[in-house]
Amino acid sequence: MTKEGPEIVGSGSSYYASMGEQQYAAKINTPAKSPEYFDQFHKPMLERLKQKFGTPIGVLDVACGPAFELEFFTNDPDVILFASDISPDILPQVQARLPQAHLFAMDASKSVLADNIVEMGMLVNAMIYVPADMLKTMYGALKPGGEAALNFRVFSNPHNKAFYDYYTTHGGVITEKPYTIETPEGSKTFTVQVLDYTACVKDDGTPDTDIRQLGEQMYFENIEDVQALLDASGFEVLEHSLFNFSSPVNPDNQVDVFVLKKPE
Ligand SMILES: C[S@@+](CC[C@H](N)C(=O)[O-])C[C@H]1O[C@@H](n2cnc3c(N)ncnc32)[C@H](O)[C@@H]1O
Repeated sequence: MTKEGPEIVGSGSSYYASMGEQQYAAKINTPAKSPEYFDQFHKPMLERLKQKFGTPIGVLDVACGPAFELEFFTNDPDVILFASDISPDILPQVQARLPQAHLFAMDASKSVLADNIVEMGMLVNAMIYVPADMLKTMYGALKPGGEAALNFRVFSNPHNKAFYDYYTTHGGVITEKPYTIETPEGSKTFTVQVLDYTACVKDDGTPDTDIRQLGEQMYFENIEDVQALLDASGFEVLEHSLFNFSSPVNPDNQVDVFVLKKPE
């Protein structure tokens, strides 16, 4: 990570490799780019952390995709933006919009980051791939007292039914699978719902090559499982809220958003 760095380093598998910004905005169901999400979670967090740590504040977006959420920070001279995704192919479009951000390709399961380097973190719509590793990477990178916000689309929440129904009626397949994490008390296995997008089709039945790039995403069944995942992470939960937003396939998503703090 260099301050000047327009250079993008790294390589990995490419989930959203050939998806441009416009297709992404039209097809991906994320609260990123929602001013309400920024105002409710990231804005007050940034203010708190400025008071606490002084400036500048290092903000790390893990699994950033096109990093729309970081656009809300661009006029703030007191932040240093870092963004990372497993897919190096999505990063050039981030670089074009956010030339001041420091970008790098990284698999969150194999973090290359030093410990205790940033004050603030975000995982927007990211806890659907290797969620325990996402948490571990964020925990390591945050300074003690640093905070991060993240969200989950809980499977049993009726607000989200339209989201799952859309994909299962368009070639997606949902399967129950075990997901095992390591906790201080030993391993713990959850039953998660895995949505496989790799055979998805458009309304006219032709392959939806954009959506197929999403691969497989996992969703926790209920909020108790999410809480258990967070309990095992070492983070302190500062806040838990519900956030509603409209997305391309569901006008009424409801995600559980957590504000987490790395203990001092
Ligand atoms: C649903 S997108 C969310 C992107 C962005 N945060 C947003 O809300 O628009 C999930 C992102 O996770 C990335 N991803 C998947 N597996 C990953 C991993 N193991 N490490 C880091 N990023 C990963 C994908 O490439 C994709 O860009």
